[in-house]
Amino acid sequence: MRLDKFLSEMGAGTRTELKKNIRAGRVTVDGAVVRDPGAKVEETSAVVYCGQPVAYEAFVYYMLNKPAGVISASDDPREATVVDLIAEQKRKDLFPVGRLDRDTEGLLLITNDGALAHRLLSPKHHVDKVYYARVSGAVTETDVDAFRAGLLLSDGLACLPADLRVLSTGMDADGATVSEVEVTIREGKFHQIKRMFEAVGREVLYLKRLAMGPLTLDPDLPSGAYRRLTRAEVDALSHAQS
Ligand code: URA
Repeated sequence: MRLDKFLSEMGAGTRTELKKNIRAGRVTVDGAVVRDPGAKVEETSAVVYCGQPVAYEAFVYYMLNKPAGVISASDDPREATVVDLIAEQKRKDLFPVGRLDRDTEGLLLITNDGALAHRLLSPKHHVDKVYYARVSGAVTETDVDAFRAGLLLSDGLACLPADLRVLSTGMDADGATVSEVEVTIREGKFHQIKRMFEAVGREVLYLKRLAMGPLTLDPDLPSGAYRRLTRAEVDALSHAQS
């Protein structure tokens, strides 16, 4: 790839700054000064920019605490996407791993690693996804059993067995009964959690993803914030399979 692209993707500076510094002889590649911004370099080249070594990372991984109101897409002509929220990122190849509905919050992995995404999303691998939800009415043991047995959705699709745990049941401000639950599913059908509750006559009022395989939403990440995954988190994800 071009030297200026290598540096730009690694966030070393703006294209204009980079070109200026390259032309001024402030960049070396494998020990030699290179003054052509379009010079070809390898991912493995030893690039030093203004005295700082810059290592190329082929893959990047971010954990986003998705806020409500943002769509799970890479780019969109009209609306802000989850990838737009990764402000520091200069790469064009990022995408969200799976989709959360516009009104769903919580853990979303954003990366450019297609092979990892495929493993995590493949129905074959049955990676656990854990959600917290507030649901209308008092969730019962009958509902728990129905989730465990594997629900049939309104369009006839059968779900794999899922774990439903009731955390609490109480009244909301208007006096309506509401349950707080945790649900673990091992697949990712369209609107799955909402449709599973619909199948037992309940409505999801709020939904947040807490975990995906071994990756757990960092409690220190406020809504809309993101951070890079640690090496240990990336390693754990690449072995995720239940
Ligand atoms: N299930 C849903 O219904 N919505 C989501 O966003 C994720 C899982």
